[in-house]
Amino acid sequence: MADTSQRYDRVARLLHWSIALLVLANLASGLLHEPLEGVVRLTPLHKSIGMTVLALTLARIAWRFTWRAPPHPAGTSRLEAAAARGVHALFYGLMLAMPVSGWVIASAGKYPLTWFGLADLPKLAVTRDDQAYLVAHEAHALLGWLFLALAALHVAAALRHHFVLRDGVLARMA
Ligand code: HEM
Ligand code: HEM
Repeated sequence: MADTSQRYDRVARLLHWSIALLVLANLASGLLHEPLEGVVRLTPLHKSIGMTVLALTLARIAWRFTWRAPPHPAGTSRLEAAAARGVHALFYGLMLAMPVSGWVIASAGKYPLTWFGLADLPKLAVTRDDQAYLVAHEAHALLGWLFLALAALHVAAALRHHFVLRDGVLARMA
């Protein structure tokens, strides 16, 4: 049985799952926007979801300073603990780097930047000739693949904890 006193708190769980859903939606819409061109225009939705991830991530990082993660289950090797810490830290970096690089790309484009068509968001002072645009464009594509690979690893680890090790790690985030 999971020790429920060691669960992530309600806000941490809500932020984890809402950001997870939005990130997965954006990885899919980002990678599918070219093949689906002419069928559906996913980019406005992609940008709005991505900017939402940025706001939620800033809130999540601030909240993260208010609590300590539950300890690793007994029997966790040092390598496993380091891998979990490393992937989680990379996730926080990617949850910032993906929206910020996307914001730079969108700022250099001709369309206004809106949040689901409900509010205008400020554009950064970047043009397509700037080095910042080129770096952001490369980074957005490259880091997108890294994010996808790490997400697959993270889900595989969560499922291993749940079905193989049966140690309640998934339950404390559920
Ligand atoms: C969690 C946040 C985000 C994720 C995971 C994400 C993911 C992706 C991925 C995987 C691609 C395809 C890259 C490629 O293979 O070329 C992409 C493209 C794109 N993303 Fe994002 N994105 C995020 C946030 C944003 C934001 C906030 C914006 C703008 C405000 C944005 C604007 C774009 C644009 C314009 C493209 C098309 C780039 C091009 O091909 O010219 N993204 N995104
Ligand atoms: C791309 C989407 C996802 C992202 C960005 C993400 C990110 C994170 C991060 C940053 C943490 C560390 C929390 C902390 O201690 O600060 C975490 C923990 C966790 N995530 Fe995810 N997650 C995603 C999807 C998922 C999915 C789909 C599952 C389940 C199948 C899952 C299960 C868990 C579990 C069980 C923990 C707790 C691990 C532990 O206690 O050591 N996550 N996630």
